[in-house]
Amino acid sequence: SSGVRRGPDGALTVAGVDVRDLAVAQGTPAYVLDEADLRERARSYRRAFEAAFAEVGAGVDVYYAGKAFLSVAVARWVHAEGLRVDTATGGELAVALRAGVPGEHIGLHGNNKSDAEIARALDAGVGRIIVDSLVEVERVAAASRARGGAPAPVMIRVTTGVHAGGHEYISTAHEDQKFGLSLATDGRVATGAGSQTEDSPAMTALLAVLAHPELELLGIHSHIGSQILDPSGFEVAARKVLELRAALAQRTGFLVPEVDLGGGYGIAYLPGEVALDPDRIAKDVAASVAASSADLGTPLPRFSIEPGRAIVGPAGLTLYTVGTVKPVRVGGPDDEAESTIVRTYVSIDGGMSDNIRPALYGADYHAELANRLSDAEPVLARVVGKHCESGDIVVHDVLLPGDVRAGDLLAVAATGAYGRSMASNYNHVPRPPVVAVTDGEARVLVRRETEDDLLALDQG
Ligand code: LLP
Repeated sequence: SSGVRRGPDGALTVAGVDVRDLAVAQGTPAYVLDEADLRERARSYRRAFEAAFAEVGAGVDVYYAGKAFLSVAVARWVHAEGLRVDTATGGELAVALRAGVPGEHIGLHGNNKSDAEIARALDAGVGRIIVDSLVEVERVAAASRARGGAPAPVMIRVTTGVHAGGHEYISTAHEDQKFGLSLATDGRVATGAGSQTEDSPAMTALLAVLAHPELELLGIHSHIGSQILDPSGFEVAARKVLELRAALAQRTGFLVPEVDLGGGYGIAYLPGEVALDPDRIAKDVAASVAASSADLGTPLPRFSIEPGRAIVGPAGLTLYTVGTVKPVRVGGPDDEAESTIVRTYVSIDGGMSDNIRPALYGADYHAELANRLSDAEPVLARVVGKHCESGDIVVHDVLLPGDVRAGDLLAVAATGAYGRSMASNYNHVPRPPVVAVTDGEARVLVRRETEDDLLALDQG
């Protein structure tokens, strides 16, 4: 985060808190979240998009994608910075509600929402339910009808065929995957033999919503992937969504009021990498949607976006304690002298249970010696966890001082997104705490799990 410094004796501080003090007070591993940095990122996304879209005459809302990391405090922070909260499950919805975020500022996603989740969202008066399938149109309509209140505000999630971002598993808008409703009319995705004139699944869903008085057709939603560093995908996808909106208007006279362009704004994980700049991307996308709308002869809708990683990712780091350090040699098996050290395996007290991203996506991170400076010759190191498999790697390749040793602290940067939120109890390891640091003070947002917590689940 931008609050990381080297103190006078060479130890890292985050927002004025010495990592050695954090390690003593909180133990390790610990996720450390820089509140000021997170809030600044939330603010800069909101300001950048508000300014750029105002320039072309459109309104915009920024939803924080809680899947990246959600706690009551974080939901309050982003809401205080003028963001809304996007949730993907009943659990995330419960956190946003406990934080006091008003229902109308919450969205609910999910490709397989339960009846209970839909009911809870309607009871909370959420501002939008993003509907992911034709059957869900009917399910939300039935739930809304049963309540007999105001029509439920829904968006239809479409897949534009634009495929952007990092690993295949995190790129959600190409055709052969589970999310959304396709814009394609060639029958590739539609059931049965499609013809050129057949409606796309996306169009079919929009028409179905319009046919239901219990539903309010609020918008069209497109999310094209995650960790996107090339902004052109957003523009192409937005154009397709605006075309669909224009086609629906031509057919029915109904102009969908909102368009959500999803999240996916890429961040820097390694030194030297460059994140997407919110000002640039906002300007580019605003100019592009304005041009598309002018071409199509339709007025601009209200827009929204859903960044998660870009808000919380760089604001977090993970603090670990080094244990076993093992130089691994290859070469002449019988002859020590002939062999060479290929790599130094530096084991830390966490691993794939607190950061699954390297194992799952091949993601790269950077680690630094955090408790001291060293002028020892650097060695090529691999930072590995304590779990029982060889893929338990946190940092594939990093130069660390050759005197790195048990008891040292390592800081792994940019772990605020999809770290704690995807953590597991693999090997019965209790999940680490999330500690906020603000102006020289530390505060636990989510406490460390204990073995008792885990044993309490075990019914014998
Ligand atoms: N909106 C929707 C509908 C999404 O599906 C996602 C992420 C977001 C917003 C937020 O995307 P972000 O701005 O955080 O990139 N676990 C993976 C990322 C999965 C993202 C899934 N959807 C990872 O660790 O890279």
